[in-house]
Amino acid sequence: MSDSRDLGVIGLGVMGSSLVLNMADNGYSVAAFDLDHEKGESLLNRAAEELQERQTQQQCVQVTTSYTELLQSLRSPRILFLSVPAGPVVDDVCEKLIDAGIQADDIVVDTGNSLWSDTEVRQAKYKGKFIFFSTAVSGGELGARHGPALMAGGDKYAWTRVGPVLEKIAAKVDSRTGKPTEEPSEFSEACAAYIGSGGAGHYVKMVHNGIEYADMQLICEAFQYLNEGLELNYAEIADIFESWLAGPLDSYLLEVSVAVLRQTDPETQAPLMDVILDMAGQKGTGRWTAINSLELGAPAMTIAQSVYARALSARKDARVRASKILDGPLSEGVGEEKQSLIEALHDALLCAKVSAYAQGFELIALAAEDYEWKIDYGKLAKIWRAGCIIRAKILGDIAQSYADESHAQENLLISPVFAKLLSDKQSHWRKTVAKAVELGIPVPCLSSSIAYYDGYRCERLPANLLQGQRDFFGAHGFQRLDRPGTFHLTWEEQQPQLVQFK
Ligand code: 6PG
Repeated sequence: MSDSRDLGVIGLGVMGSSLVLNMADNGYSVAAFDLDHEKGESLLNRAAEELQERQTQQQCVQVTTSYTELLQSLRSPRILFLSVPAGPVVDDVCEKLIDAGIQADDIVVDTGNSLWSDTEVRQAKYKGKFIFFSTAVSGGELGARHGPALMAGGDKYAWTRVGPVLEKIAAKVDSRTGKPTEEPSEFSEACAAYIGSGGAGHYVKMVHNGIEYADMQLICEAFQYLNEGLELNYAEIADIFESWLAGPLDSYLLEVSVAVLRQTDPETQAPLMDVILDMAGQKGTGRWTAINSLELGAPAMTIAQSVYARALSARKDARVRASKILDGPLSEGVGEEKQSLIEALHDALLCAKVSAYAQGFELIALAAEDYEWKIDYGKLAKIWRAGCIIRAKILGDIAQSYADESHAQENLLISPVFAKLLSDKQSHWRKTVAKAVELGIPVPCLSSSIAYYDGYRCERLPANLLQGQRDFFGAHGFQRLDRPGTFHLTWEEQQPQLVQFK
């Protein structure tokens, strides 16, 4: 096989094979490899079908049968993309590439959902053997095939070589409208960016997934509130959600939710919603986000609650037993006109979404400080406007906030656009959370989103009492408002004295 192919792809699962076809669509010749030869065969069948004469005449996609053959087929210095499961498999493949003769100036791009700290370890581990680079891919199979959002991280030199490829295969946004576009033009902006050094690319993808979890959970809570609280059926809820797509709640995840609500089960013709088991799975990226927020002391409470909500859903047997023992509120109906509650829910969902995104961007900012990354938050919001799973109208407003003024850099909540929105709509936010609780509808993300807002805007929190408690039983000390230092009160004495620790 000639050593002239542009790109190599290892791992021909759903994402890997879709990336190969996307690259070929964009004019690259690709050498592909998977240990499972059947996957190679099915890729060639897809290439013949989807690339047609370009494949038959130019063989733009070729499948190799070994790591050695793969390396021999690529022009130097090589660029190889890995699309393999996060974890030890990545290192297995890297070792195989070293054995097969990969060179120091070759670049290996990990496109999986790897843990960002693993990426940093790998960049050091393989230094000198080859350049380990990362590009997190968001958008699922369709995104990988027709245009994902791509978040790159690692050595800036590698970006100079890999970036042009990523910008070609990424989703595009029309800079005049901020909307996704398929039409290449001078106004097309690629949803691909160099995020920063080390694991920065994989880190922001992890937080993207944390925001994704929160977004999905918020929509699910809105659904349960409408379905069980306001007694609307799936079709009525789908209509409501669909009507919201015309406004500020426009998002891919809301679109997907309309499709799921309208879908019938091909087997029973019953609504699909009636047959899907209510136990949420999770591959782990949302959990990583919650864990990291705790490690960094970032109050990403809505993201964390979305992970707990999945955990609670997974305790199905326990919930079935408990449902026979624990009482909810006596159902006295919703007590007011449904339409006004639906309108309030729209505003509550929008405010909660802003709160969740503010938490995600705050987490990224705290991480960037800790891990010494320089991240352009406006650029990040821009590349999330298309291709990725959280693509939504709100990301255009977030990008604009970062472009317009500095407040956003501290927290999106206090940027003028969002501060006004939340202030104008907070009564509906409060009314919806209160009504949901009154009706016995679990709303961990809707309620934590307003707790974050109320906590963040609160000049005085009850942590003064908490510090007193800690000092009373643990002599942990407290600071004073009126002067520097750490103090302890000798609580046990008749006349407690103030002792200054430092
Ligand atoms: C994306 C998605 C994707 C995610 C899967 C499974 O950006 O394309 O976030 O990367 O991993 O959808 O996610 P969970 O199993 O964690 O829900």
